[in-house]
Amino acid sequence: MDGFTDYPFRQIAHQFASALSYSEFINCIDVTYGHPFLKQKLAFSEEESPFVYQLFDDNPQRMLESAQKIEKLGPDIIDVNIGCSAKNVSNRGAGAGLLKDPKKIKLMVSSLVNTLHVPVTAKIRLGWDESSLNYQEVSRILEDSGVSMIAVHGRTRKQEYSGAANWDAIREIKQLVHVPVIGNGDIKTPCDIDRMISETGCDAVMIGRAALGNPWILARRNKSDVSPGELYQVMADHLGLMVSFYGDPIGVILFRKHLARYLSGYLTTSEIRTRIFQFEQSEPLLIVIAELLTHQSESV
Ligand SMILES: Cc1cc2nc3c(=O)[nH]c(=O)nc-3n(C[C@H](O)[C@H](O)[C@H](O)COP(=O)(O)O)c2cc1C
Repeated sequence: MDGFTDYPFRQIAHQFASALSYSEFINCIDVTYGHPFLKQKLAFSEEESPFVYQLFDDNPQRMLESAQKIEKLGPDIIDVNIGCSAKNVSNRGAGAGLLKDPKKIKLMVSSLVNTLHVPVTAKIRLGWDESSLNYQEVSRILEDSGVSMIAVHGRTRKQEYSGAANWDAIREIKQLVHVPVIGNGDIKTPCDIDRMISETGCDAVMIGRAALGNPWILARRNKSDVSPGELYQVMADHLGLMVSFYGDPIGVILFRKHLARYLSGYLTTSEIRTRIFQFEQSEPLLIVIAELLTHQSESV
Protein backbone atom coordinates (compact mmCIF):
# COMPACT_ATOMS: atom_id res chain seq x y z
CA MET A 1 0.00 0.00 0.00
CA ASP A 2 1.43 3.28 -1.15
CA GLY A 3 2.87 5.28 1.73
CA PHE A 4 2.54 2.40 4.18
CA THR A 5 3.97 -0.96 3.14
CA ASP A 6 7.56 0.15 2.95
CA TYR A 7 10.51 -1.99 3.95
CA PRO A 8 10.11 -1.45 7.73
CA PHE A 9 6.37 -2.19 7.65
CA ARG A 10 6.97 -5.36 5.67
CA GLN A 11 9.55 -6.54 8.18
CA ILE A 12 6.90 -6.24 10.88
CA ALA A 13 4.35 -7.99 8.66
CA HIS A 14 6.86 -10.76 8.04
CA GLN A 15 7.15 -11.33 11.79
CA PHE A 16 3.41 -11.92 11.75
CA ALA A 17 3.80 -14.47 8.96
CA SER A 18 2.44 -12.50 6.02
CA ALA A 19 2.44 -15.01 3.16
CA LEU A 20 3.39 -12.69 0.33
CA SER A 21 5.21 -9.40 0.56
CA TYR A 22 4.25 -6.66 -1.94
CA SER A 23 6.18 -3.46 -2.50
CA GLU A 24 4.24 -0.22 -2.57
CA PHE A 25 3.24 0.36 -6.17
CA ILE A 26 6.13 1.70 -8.21
CA ASN A 27 5.71 4.24 -10.97
CA CYS A 28 7.48 3.09 -14.15
CA ILE A 29 8.19 6.74 -14.95
CA ASP A 30 10.31 6.84 -11.79
CA VAL A 31 12.11 3.64 -12.77
CA THR A 32 12.81 5.09 -16.22
CA TYR A 33 13.84 8.62 -15.30
CA GLY A 34 14.84 8.21 -11.65
CA HIS A 35 13.24 9.56 -8.48
CA PRO A 36 14.78 10.64 -5.16
CA PHE A 37 12.84 7.94 -3.24
CA LEU A 38 13.04 5.13 -5.78
CA LYS A 39 15.88 3.32 -4.01
CA GLN A 40 13.88 3.23 -0.77
CA LYS A 41 10.81 1.96 -2.60
CA LEU A 42 12.79 -0.82 -4.24
CA ALA A 43 14.49 -2.00 -1.02
CA PHE A 44 13.60 -5.49 0.14
CA SER A 45 15.29 -8.34 1.95
CA GLU A 46 15.63 -11.96 0.97
CA GLU A 47 13.84 -12.93 4.17
CA GLU A 48 10.65 -11.44 2.72
CA SER A 49 10.53 -14.05 -0.02
CA PRO A 50 8.20 -14.50 -1.81
CA PHE A 51 8.55 -10.81 -2.60
CA VAL A 52 6.53 -8.94 -5.24
CA TYR A 53 7.36 -5.70 -7.01
CA GLN A 54 4.15 -4.01 -8.09
CA LEU A 55 4.39 -1.65 -11.07
CA PHE A 56 1.97 0.84 -12.57
CA ASP A 57 1.94 2.60 -15.92
CA ASP A 58 -0.24 3.31 -18.93
CA ASN A 59 2.61 2.67 -21.37
CA PRO A 60 3.31 -1.01 -22.16
CA GLN A 61 6.81 -0.42 -23.54
CA ARG A 62 7.91 1.62 -20.53
CA MET A 63 6.33 -0.97 -18.22
CA LEU A 64 8.32 -3.72 -19.95
CA GLU A 65 11.61 -1.84 -19.78
CA SER A 66 11.01 -0.95 -16.13
CA ALA A 67 10.14 -4.53 -15.27
CA GLN A 68 13.29 -5.79 -16.99
CA LYS A 69 15.36 -3.33 -14.95
CA ILE A 70 13.89 -4.19 -11.57
CA GLU A 71 13.75 -7.91 -12.27
CA LYS A 72 17.54 -7.80 -11.98
CA LEU A 73 17.16 -6.85 -8.30
CA GLY A 74 15.79 -10.34 -7.60
CA PRO A 75 12.05 -10.19 -6.79
CA ASP A 76 10.12 -13.45 -6.92
CA ILE A 77 7.15 -11.96 -8.79
CA ILE A 78 6.30 -8.83 -10.79
CA ASP A 79 2.73 -7.60 -10.41
CA VAL A 80 0.84 -5.16 -12.60
CA ASN A 81 -1.43 -2.70 -10.84
CA ILE A 82 -4.77 -2.56 -12.68
CA GLY A 83 -6.66 -1.33 -9.66
CA CYS A 84 -5.40 2.00 -8.35
CA SER A 85 -8.28 4.45 -8.23
CA ALA A 86 -6.25 7.59 -7.43
CA LYS A 87 -7.13 10.26 -9.98
CA ASN A 88 -3.53 11.11 -10.86
CA VAL A 89 -2.96 7.45 -11.73
CA SER A 90 -6.24 6.17 -13.17
CA ASN A 91 -7.13 9.31 -15.17
CA ARG A 92 -3.95 8.92 -17.18
CA GLY A 93 -4.90 5.35 -18.03
CA ALA A 94 -2.70 3.56 -15.46
CA GLY A 95 -3.95 1.49 -12.48
CA ALA A 96 -7.73 1.11 -12.72
CA GLY A 97 -7.58 3.32 -15.83
CA LEU A 98 -6.32 0.26 -17.72
CA LEU A 99 -9.71 -1.37 -17.19
CA LYS A 100 -11.02 0.96 -19.90
CA ASP A 101 -8.62 -0.57 -22.40
CA PRO A 102 -8.56 -4.38 -22.15
CA LYS A 103 -6.53 -4.61 -25.39
CA LYS A 104 -3.78 -2.62 -23.76
CA ILE A 105 -3.91 -4.91 -20.73
CA LYS A 106 -3.36 -7.85 -23.07
CA LEU A 107 -0.44 -6.18 -24.81
CA MET A 108 1.15 -5.02 -21.56
CA VAL A 109 0.80 -8.27 -19.68
CA SER A 110 1.70 -10.60 -22.58
CA SER A 111 4.91 -8.75 -23.26
CA LEU A 112 5.88 -9.02 -19.57
CA VAL A 113 5.03 -12.73 -19.44
CA ASN A 114 6.93 -13.44 -22.66
CA THR A 115 10.03 -11.50 -21.64
CA LEU A 116 10.50 -11.76 -17.89
CA HIS A 117 11.94 -14.76 -16.09
CA VAL A 118 9.82 -14.38 -12.96
CA PRO A 119 6.06 -15.02 -12.77
CA VAL A 120 3.82 -12.07 -13.64
CA THR A 121 0.64 -11.42 -11.66
CA ALA A 122 -2.00 -8.69 -11.69
CA LYS A 123 -4.27 -6.90 -9.28
CA ILE A 124 -7.58 -5.66 -10.63
CA ARG A 125 -10.80 -3.93 -9.67
CA LEU A 126 -14.19 -4.95 -11.03
CA GLY A 127 -14.46 -2.25 -13.68
CA TRP A 128 -14.37 1.52 -14.11
CA ASP A 129 -17.89 1.98 -12.76
CA GLU A 130 -21.04 -0.06 -12.23
CA SER A 131 -22.09 0.41 -15.85
CA SER A 132 -18.82 -1.00 -17.17
CA LEU A 133 -18.14 -4.02 -15.01
CA ASN A 134 -15.67 -6.01 -17.13
CA TYR A 135 -13.93 -8.15 -14.52
CA GLN A 136 -14.83 -11.37 -16.33
CA GLU A 137 -13.39 -10.18 -19.63
CA VAL A 138 -10.28 -8.76 -17.93
CA SER A 139 -9.71 -11.91 -15.86
CA ARG A 140 -9.92 -14.07 -19.00
CA ILE A 141 -7.52 -11.77 -20.82
CA LEU A 142 -5.10 -11.94 -17.92
CA GLU A 143 -5.26 -15.71 -17.79
CA ASP A 144 -4.85 -16.01 -21.58
CA SER A 145 -1.90 -13.63 -21.40
CA GLY A 146 -0.18 -15.98 -18.97
CA VAL A 147 -0.46 -14.38 -15.53
CA SER A 148 0.27 -16.73 -12.65
CA MET A 149 -2.25 -15.23 -10.24
CA ILE A 150 -4.95 -12.56 -10.07
CA ALA A 151 -5.72 -10.45 -7.01
CA VAL A 152 -9.19 -8.90 -7.04
CA HIS A 153 -10.29 -5.84 -5.09
CA GLY A 154 -14.06 -6.21 -5.20
CA ARG A 155 -14.89 -2.59 -6.03
CA THR A 156 -15.00 -0.39 -9.10
CA ARG A 157 -12.72 2.56 -9.76
CA LYS A 158 -15.66 4.89 -9.16
CA GLN A 159 -16.35 3.41 -5.74
CA GLU A 160 -12.76 4.05 -4.67
CA TYR A 161 -13.00 2.74 -1.08
CA SER A 162 -16.68 3.34 -0.41
CA GLY A 163 -19.56 0.89 -0.31
CA ALA A 164 -19.18 -2.79 0.44
CA ALA A 165 -16.71 -4.86 -1.55
CA ASN A 166 -18.49 -7.28 -3.88
CA TRP A 167 -17.37 -10.74 -2.85
CA ASP A 168 -19.81 -12.40 -5.29
CA ALA A 169 -17.73 -11.01 -8.14
CA ILE A 170 -14.60 -12.49 -6.56
CA ARG A 171 -16.36 -15.86 -6.47
CA GLU A 172 -17.32 -15.51 -10.15
CA ILE A 173 -13.71 -14.83 -11.09
CA LYS A 174 -12.53 -17.79 -9.04
CA GLN A 175 -14.99 -20.03 -10.91
CA LEU A 176 -13.94 -18.58 -14.26
CA VAL A 177 -10.16 -18.86 -14.24
CA HIS A 178 -7.73 -21.63 -13.41
CA VAL A 179 -4.94 -19.53 -11.91
CA PRO A 180 -5.01 -18.79 -8.17
CA VAL A 181 -7.24 -15.90 -7.13
CA ILE A 182 -6.56 -13.64 -4.17
CA GLY A 183 -9.67 -12.03 -2.70
CA ASN A 184 -9.43 -8.48 -1.41
CA GLY A 185 -11.73 -5.90 0.09
CA ASP A 186 -13.28 -5.39 3.51
CA ILE A 187 -11.44 -8.00 5.53
CA LYS A 188 -11.56 -6.33 8.91
CA THR A 189 -11.26 -9.19 11.39
CA PRO A 190 -9.70 -12.67 11.49
CA CYS A 191 -13.23 -14.12 11.06
CA ASP A 192 -13.57 -12.24 7.76
CA ILE A 193 -10.58 -14.16 6.41
CA ASP A 194 -12.39 -17.50 6.73
CA ARG A 195 -15.65 -15.95 5.59
CA MET A 196 -14.13 -14.61 2.40
CA ILE A 197 -12.44 -17.93 1.66
CA SER A 198 -15.63 -19.90 2.22
CA GLU A 199 -17.91 -17.44 0.40
CA THR A 200 -15.71 -16.92 -2.66
CA GLY A 201 -13.53 -20.05 -2.82
CA CYS A 202 -10.52 -17.77 -3.28
CA ASP A 203 -7.08 -19.26 -2.76
CA ALA A 204 -5.76 -16.55 -0.47
CA VAL A 205 -6.81 -13.19 0.89
CA MET A 206 -5.16 -9.80 0.76
CA ILE A 207 -5.66 -7.51 3.74
CA GLY A 208 -5.23 -3.78 3.22
CA ARG A 209 -6.41 -1.11 5.60
CA ALA A 210 -7.17 -3.46 8.47
CA ALA A 211 -3.49 -4.40 8.75
CA LEU A 212 -2.41 -0.79 9.34
CA GLY A 213 -1.62 -0.44 13.02
CA ASN A 214 -2.77 -4.03 13.35
CA PRO A 215 -0.31 -6.59 11.99
CA TRP A 216 -1.86 -9.12 14.39
CA ILE A 217 -4.64 -9.68 11.87
CA LEU A 218 -2.06 -11.29 9.58
CA ALA A 219 -1.61 -13.94 12.27
CA ARG A 220 -5.39 -14.22 12.64
CA ARG A 221 -5.41 -12.49 16.02
CA ASN A 222 -7.86 -9.85 17.19
CA LYS A 223 -6.22 -6.61 18.23
CA SER A 224 -8.52 -6.54 21.26
CA ASP A 225 -6.62 -9.59 22.56
CA VAL A 226 -3.25 -7.85 22.33
CA SER A 227 -1.85 -6.70 25.67
CA PRO A 228 -0.60 -3.11 26.08
CA GLY A 229 2.88 -4.55 26.62
CA GLU A 230 2.82 -6.37 23.29
CA LEU A 231 1.35 -3.35 21.52
CA TYR A 232 4.19 -1.25 22.92
CA GLN A 233 6.82 -3.76 21.84
CA VAL A 234 5.60 -3.98 18.25
CA MET A 235 5.36 -0.20 18.01
CA ALA A 236 8.88 0.16 19.42
CA ASP A 237 10.19 -2.42 16.94
CA HIS A 238 8.41 -0.73 14.03
CA LEU A 239 9.67 2.70 15.04
CA GLY A 240 13.20 1.34 15.45
CA LEU A 241 13.06 -0.17 11.95
CA MET A 242 11.81 3.13 10.52
CA VAL A 243 14.57 5.12 12.19
CA SER A 244 17.26 2.74 10.99
CA PHE A 245 15.82 2.77 7.45
CA TYR A 246 15.02 6.48 7.05
CA GLY A 247 17.18 8.00 9.81
CA ASP A 248 16.21 10.51 12.49
CA PRO A 249 13.97 12.56 12.39
CA ILE A 250 12.36 11.41 9.08
CA GLY A 251 11.75 7.90 10.39
CA VAL A 252 9.94 9.26 13.46
CA ILE A 253 7.88 11.72 11.42
CA LEU A 254 6.90 9.03 8.90
CA PHE A 255 5.99 6.72 11.77
CA ARG A 256 3.22 9.13 12.87
CA LYS A 257 0.68 7.70 10.42
CA HIS A 258 1.31 4.23 11.84
CA LEU A 259 1.28 5.61 15.39
CA ALA A 260 -2.23 7.00 14.93
CA ARG A 261 -3.43 3.59 13.81
CA TYR A 262 -1.63 1.52 16.42
CA LEU A 263 -3.03 3.78 19.12
CA SER A 264 -6.58 4.10 17.81
CA GLY A 265 -8.75 4.03 20.88
CA TYR A 266 -5.98 5.50 23.03
CA LEU A 267 -5.79 8.98 21.48
CA THR A 268 -8.92 10.11 23.25
CA THR A 269 -8.28 13.83 23.64
CA SER A 270 -6.74 16.56 21.49
CA GLU A 271 -4.15 17.17 24.26
CA ILE A 272 -2.93 13.58 23.99
CA ARG A 273 -2.82 13.79 20.20
CA THR A 274 -0.95 17.07 20.19
CA ARG A 275 1.54 15.75 22.73
CA ILE A 276 2.24 12.48 20.99
CA PHE A 277 2.59 13.91 17.48
CA GLN A 278 5.13 16.55 18.48
CA PHE A 279 8.16 14.28 18.76
CA GLU A 280 10.92 14.04 16.21
CA GLN A 281 13.13 11.68 18.23
CA SER A 282 12.19 8.13 19.13
CA GLU A 283 13.31 8.01 22.79
CA PRO A 284 10.94 10.66 24.20
CA LEU A 285 8.16 9.38 21.95
CA LEU A 286 8.53 5.85 23.32
CA ILE A 287 8.41 7.16 26.89
CA VAL A 288 5.11 8.93 26.22
CA ILE A 289 3.66 5.90 24.43
CA ALA A 290 4.59 3.70 27.41
CA GLU A 291 2.98 6.21 29.81
CA LEU A 292 -0.17 6.35 27.71
CA LEU A 293 -0.53 2.59 27.45
CA THR A 294 0.18 2.08 31.16
CA HIS A 295 -2.17 4.85 32.25
CA GLN A 296 -5.04 3.71 30.04
CA SER A 297 -4.72 0.04 30.92
CA GLU A 298 -4.70 0.93 34.65
CA SER A 299 -7.83 3.02 34.25
CA VAL A 300 -9.75 0.16 32.57
C1 LIG B 1 -3.41 4.41 1.45
C2 LIG B 1 -3.63 3.26 0.50
C3 LIG B 1 -2.61 2.93 -0.39
C4 LIG B 1 -2.81 1.86 -1.27
N1 LIG B 1 -1.81 1.52 -2.12
C5 LIG B 1 -1.94 0.45 -2.94
C6 LIG B 1 -0.88 0.03 -3.78
O1 LIG B 1 0.21 0.64 -3.83
N2 LIG B 1 -1.09 -1.06 -4.56
C7 LIG B 1 -2.27 -1.77 -4.53
O2 LIG B 1 -2.40 -2.76 -5.22
N3 LIG B 1 -3.29 -1.38 -3.75
C8 LIG B 1 -3.14 -0.31 -2.96
N4 LIG B 1 -4.18 0.07 -2.15
C9 LIG B 1 -5.43 -0.71 -2.17
C10 LIG B 1 -5.39 -1.85 -1.15
O3 LIG B 1 -4.34 -2.74 -1.48
C11 LIG B 1 -6.68 -2.64 -1.14
O4 LIG B 1 -6.93 -3.14 -2.42
C12 LIG B 1 -7.88 -1.81 -0.71
O5 LIG B 1 -7.57 -0.99 0.40
C13 LIG B 1 -9.07 -2.72 -0.35
O6 LIG B 1 -8.70 -3.64 0.63
P1 LIG B 1 -9.08 -3.43 2.19
O7 LIG B 1 -10.57 -3.31 2.29
O8 LIG B 1 -8.53 -4.67 2.87
O9 LIG B 1 -8.39 -2.17 2.63
C14 LIG B 1 -4.03 1.14 -1.27
C15 LIG B 1 -5.03 1.49 -0.38
C16 LIG B 1 -4.85 2.54 0.50
C17 LIG B 1 -5.97 2.90 1.45
